[in-house]
Amino acid sequence: MWILATLIAVLVCLLIVRFLKQLWSHKNYPPGPLQFPLIGSIWRILPNFSQDIFIKLAKEYGNIYTIWVGPLLVVVFSGFEAVKESMVKHSEYFEERPVTPFFEAIAKEKGIVLSNGHTWKQQRKFGLVTLRKLGLGKKGIEHKIEEEAHQLAEIFARAKGQPLDPSSPIINSVTNVICSLTFGHRFSLEDEEFIKLRDALQDIVQFTVTFFHFLYDTLPWLMKHLPGPHKKVFASCDFISSFARKEIEKHKAHRSLVEPQDFIDYYLLQIEKSKKDPNSTYNEENLSQCIFDLFAAGTETTANTLLWALVLMANHPDIQEKVQKEIDDVLGSSQSFSFQDWKKLPYTRAVIHEIQRFKYILLFGVPRQCTKDVNIMGFLIPKGAIVFPDFCSVLFEPKHWETPQEFNPNNFLDKEGKFVEKEEFLPFGAGGRACLGEQLAKIELFIFFTNLLRTFTFQPPEGVKKISEDPVVRLVIPSQPFKICAVPRSNES
Ligand code: HEM
Repeated sequence: MWILATLIAVLVCLLIVRFLKQLWSHKNYPPGPLQFPLIGSIWRILPNFSQDIFIKLAKEYGNIYTIWVGPLLVVVFSGFEAVKESMVKHSEYFEERPVTPFFEAIAKEKGIVLSNGHTWKQQRKFGLVTLRKLGLGKKGIEHKIEEEAHQLAEIFARAKGQPLDPSSPIINSVTNVICSLTFGHRFSLEDEEFIKLRDALQDIVQFTVTFFHFLYDTLPWLMKHLPGPHKKVFASCDFISSFARKEIEKHKAHRSLVEPQDFIDYYLLQIEKSKKDPNSTYNEENLSQCIFDLFAAGTETTANTLLWALVLMANHPDIQEKVQKEIDDVLGSSQSFSFQDWKKLPYTRAVIHEIQRFKYILLFGVPRQCTKDVNIMGFLIPKGAIVFPDFCSVLFEPKHWETPQEFNPNNFLDKEGKFVEKEEFLPFGAGGRACLGEQLAKIELFIFFTNLLRTFTFQPPEGVKKISEDPVVRLVIPSQPFKICAVPRSNES
């Protein structure tokens, strides 16, 4: 009996010594909640997980803090100063994404969002240049966005001012913008393959913030063989990849080398141009993953921002009215307008910025990984640490905003009502890995928003005072499901 008691005592002592040694070896790391064996410090996050948990932790531990997810070190940079110091001034240390088992399974380190090193550099550069070629000007993608915005308005008009659920029509429109960009054509909303594509994208994005994701990353060797929601996600990824591959094959058969029209055309041309380059990463596997990335990164984000826009307009009729007045005064009844017009609409522009600030749609963005030991603001960030720049904390930091907790377009206007560009406005991220689709997203938000507000006044359904502004906690944060009345402005007295 006493042998067993001695063994247990020795084991406990060894565990304590190991724990203390670990604490000592981490003494130069940023502070954070106490770390326990196996669970790390997630005990501090999980019980009251919400969108502002990271801001609360920063209040307790400072602007750079650590969270241990099991044995995995996660460093969070909170507030503008820490985010700029790390992501912009020391950008070269934080340009990689972690290759977790789940990310590896869905992207195989290809494409843009989850690749690293030479592959990422080539794909990203190509992506940026090609989006610029496709995006700008009346003939390019801007024209397609305008077409989608008109179709969306037609769908809203069919409800004749009665309550409607806008989520499906908005997600369809935004998904079709990415279809036009990558494939060169849109899909009919009844097309079964299109519906499957849209649903597959939602499945993947929703899975990212679930317990099963955590479980998969912790026990990949086991989870690979077990049934569960991760299997559905892998099937959704396979569906999107085969969708992309079918489109690539069609383009190979009919493409125009002289006048490339869409992302696939440009990419196939690039494969041909770099055939003799042994270091080229331009190939069909990377192309297929780039297409996947454009859909995954560019649909839920933009669609949910637009949905929040409608909620906020219905809940703030005074602000909605001011936007409509500015649009009427500046654009008049001219049918067509372009993104260039956004300079003439400072109030509308401030409102769109404020929507993106006040209803920031990412829970914690896309993680990065530290590539070398580096000292940031007095703390050691070790090589291999997973890093989260908390952009949401910047968008709510009291010292940068007139009323951080209130929806207030004045956050982007000076006393004369002129639009003010703010360095702290970082919904698209910062540094070398910031959003590739920022310009496209801005064009989409402006054209959809301006078109909708020009045509309709948005109101909560009769008997509802305000549409709920409570978020649903997901990777891309939607509003609660809601109905809204899009009242045609021609009906207004
Ligand atoms: C309102 C809309 C959008 C928001 C708020 C948004 C936000 C973001 C954020 C925060 C990141 C991570 C940046 C970082 O790690 O610092 C990101 C990455 C990315 N976004 Fe967006 N995004 C939007 C729309 C789009 C669109 C329309 C596209 C393209 C079609 C796009 C493509 C990408 C890509 C490819 C990346 C990965 C970049 C890389 O790893 O190099 N995004 N986005």
